[in-house]
Amino acid sequence: METVLSGIRPTGNLHLGNYFGAIRNFLKLQEEYNCYFFIADYHSLTTHPTPADLHGNVKQVLAEYLATGIDPEKVTLYIQSDLPETAELYLLLNMNAYLGELERVTTFKEKARKQPNNVNAGLLTYPTLMAADILIHKAHKVPVGKDQEQHLEMTRTFARRFNRMYKHEFFPEPAAFNFGNDLIKIPGLDGSGKMGKSEGEGNAIFLADDPKVIRKKVMRAVTDAGPAEPNAPKSEPVQNLFNLLEVVSSPDTVAHFEEQYNACTIRYGDLKKQLAEDIIRFTEPLRDRILELSSDDKYLGKVARMGAEKARESGARTVKEVREIIGFRKF
Ligand code: TYM
Repeated sequence: METVLSGIRPTGNLHLGNYFGAIRNFLKLQEEYNCYFFIADYHSLTTHPTPADLHGNVKQVLAEYLATGIDPEKVTLYIQSDLPETAELYLLLNMNAYLGELERVTTFKEKARKQPNNVNAGLLTYPTLMAADILIHKAHKVPVGKDQEQHLEMTRTFARRFNRMYKHEFFPEPAAFNFGNDLIKIPGLDGSGKMGKSEGEGNAIFLADDPKVIRKKVMRAVTDAGPAEPNAPKSEPVQNLFNLLEVVSSPDTVAHFEEQYNACTIRYGDLKKQLAEDIIRFTEPLRDRILELSSDDKYLGKVARMGAEKARESGARTVKEVREIIGFRKF
């Protein structure tokens, strides 16, 4: 059976981008593959969270993962730092990761621009840590959003390099995966290209957002002055709203607003009202489960311990083999 692995940084609540980019597929995946889903808490240290925030965010994401319906008995749902072998594999992979290729990674360049006073080595070697996450379970498929495509390419490079260097077909080359469809990018509400937790107030709709908050955020979304002529091309902020409509609304609703747009009779206020209600219809059941689960410390603890045990079984085995291949042998 093929292995699937996916991860999420615990840097805040999960948003619609995370859900539609990666998580939505988890329910189907858990029936068909050997699945590892984890919370990337080592990765989140690049932005220096306080210990209380770190712990709170890990707990929140664990509750949110579970609220989407993942079954911790069927999959291995774990916290990255509960598998410290990841850190050893990261160290070993870093020996064959080169400064030039790491500096060229788009997400590194973006982060370096956004946080010029904190361009730490963890940020630079983010792709090797991510490769360690994936390779430690010898994963074949990695469900991610479009923004992670380049990281997957790096993982394949590191896997190939290791196999070549030690003349051993050890690591499979993992591929980004969305059931044969293109990888998704969910846009933000502020006219920007991507929904993200660090993109500023009002850009993202979180799964745990209150309906009132959702209405407010959507009604404030950026639009434009309206189509200048029939069948005019859409501006980026308006196209973004249509893209959001496509993921949460029915095809009839999308067609209705398309028609109005093309006829220049569209009122963006109406579109936003409908979009907000469709988002709420979708998030409300999730929100209820998130609230319930996030206060159930006993259950979350049980899930985390079970996940840690299963993850270590697989991870420790891989690292033991890697050590032998590299030449760390017992006397
Ligand atoms: P992170 O925490 O930023 O996002 C988690 C997942 O959500 C997807 N995503 C999106 N998809 C579509 N549209 C969006 N606007 C959007 N925003 C986020 C991301 O593509 C991702 O799939 N580096 C990873 C975490 C990670 C990981 C891994 C993932 C660490 N190790 C190993 C897979 C395998 C990250 O920062 O994702």
